[in-house]
Amino acid sequence: MAVLVAGGAGYIGSHTSIELLNSGYEVIIVDNLCNSNKSVIDKIEKLSGKKVRFYELDICQREKLEVVFKENKIDSIIHFAALKAVGESVEKPMEYYSNNLISTLSLFELMKKYNIKKFVFSSSATVYGDPHTCPILEDFPLSTTNPYGRTKLMIEDMLRDICKADKTLDVAILRYFNPVGAHKSGEIGELPNGIPNNLMPYITKVAIGELEELSVFGDDYPTHDGTGVRDYIHVLDLADGHVKALKKLEENPGLVTYNLGTGKGYSVLDLVKAFSKASKKEVPYKIVGRRPGDVAMCFADSSKAERELGWKAKYKIDEMCEDSWRWQNTHSKKI
Ligand code: NAD
Ligand code: WQD
Repeated sequence: MAVLVAGGAGYIGSHTSIELLNSGYEVIIVDNLCNSNKSVIDKIEKLSGKKVRFYELDICQREKLEVVFKENKIDSIIHFAALKAVGESVEKPMEYYSNNLISTLSLFELMKKYNIKKFVFSSSATVYGDPHTCPILEDFPLSTTNPYGRTKLMIEDMLRDICKADKTLDVAILRYFNPVGAHKSGEIGELPNGIPNNLMPYITKVAIGELEELSVFGDDYPTHDGTGVRDYIHVLDLADGHVKALKKLEENPGLVTYNLGTGKGYSVLDLVKAFSKASKKEVPYKIVGRRPGDVAMCFADSSKAERELGWKAKYKIDEMCEDSWRWQNTHSKKI
């Protein structure tokens, strides 16, 4: 079975590609490397001991993308390719709408033309907006607060419409909570451009001395210590979730939607503490004002994925911190 992994050189795509190869799938990666590096492809091959076919191209360019469909017999598609920085999406909404939507449309068009029926989409907990309560179930109301989130919700809506019109399609929408961690080898992990927006990469850069101190965005939320609570999930658990979702699509379920989270919420200060324990490094921080658009609390009920996919997050917060730290150490020694 050959899987086209769009955005497979990126953070979650690279870990998923290894998991797919280890599970016996053939992997074809398409990525324009706008937020990743060609060396990741070599690492995927090294870590899995298998070959991948790699095409460096922009998925928005449908004619160029079609070459991939002509040259390969593709059974299914996993679509990771997107721009993903929330703040940047507010500054540059057109880039986000254009990249995230056009890339998806060109995949949909080629899927139809080449009669491919199985599609897995990277969605996000961001589609739940400010949830009225936690843990969050898949049928909670959907809303978004920024252009990035809107691209995710628009694509989800498109998928719901497309699957309603064509009952032969099998689609899995996977809503990830807060991905962290890295491959156990320390060879691949998240490569944020410039100063990280997300908490874990910010913490690891403070711990290694590249950044001075962490700014904790608000300590007056209605949470146990006043700082924001999130559901951090190891990228290796996410990778496993994609393989299980592909297996599910073999049962022809039509459109299915799953939360991929651990079900446990950790505050910013909980994460700082867990990280310091795992890395034996102090993480200096100061409390600053709230970041606009942040919600107090966001964690998943992932029991649907457990019931229907046989998937459950295995990695605990300590291991997420250890693996993020190992990656930070290995990676920063190379630059
Ligand atoms: P990433 O930036 O590391 O990976 C995305 C990959 O897609 C990159 O390698 C990038 O070069 C590629 N890409 C982007 N636009 C492209 C285009 N037009 N043509 C070809 N390649 C293109 O991001 P990630 O963290 O691995 O996220 C993967 C997916 O998961 C994204 O869709 C993201 O929105 C979603 N997601 C991520 C998070 C998170 O916090 N990391 C959370 C929820 C959902
Ligand atoms: C986590 C917590 C911050 C940085 C984002 C996207 C979401 C999804 C995952 C893609 C919050 C606090 C953070 C810092 C801090 N991505 N924080 N200081 O905002 O939950 O989710 O990434 O789909 O769409 O919105 O993640 O890691 O940015 O923040 O205090 O320097 O850490 O306020 O409480 P978030 P995050």
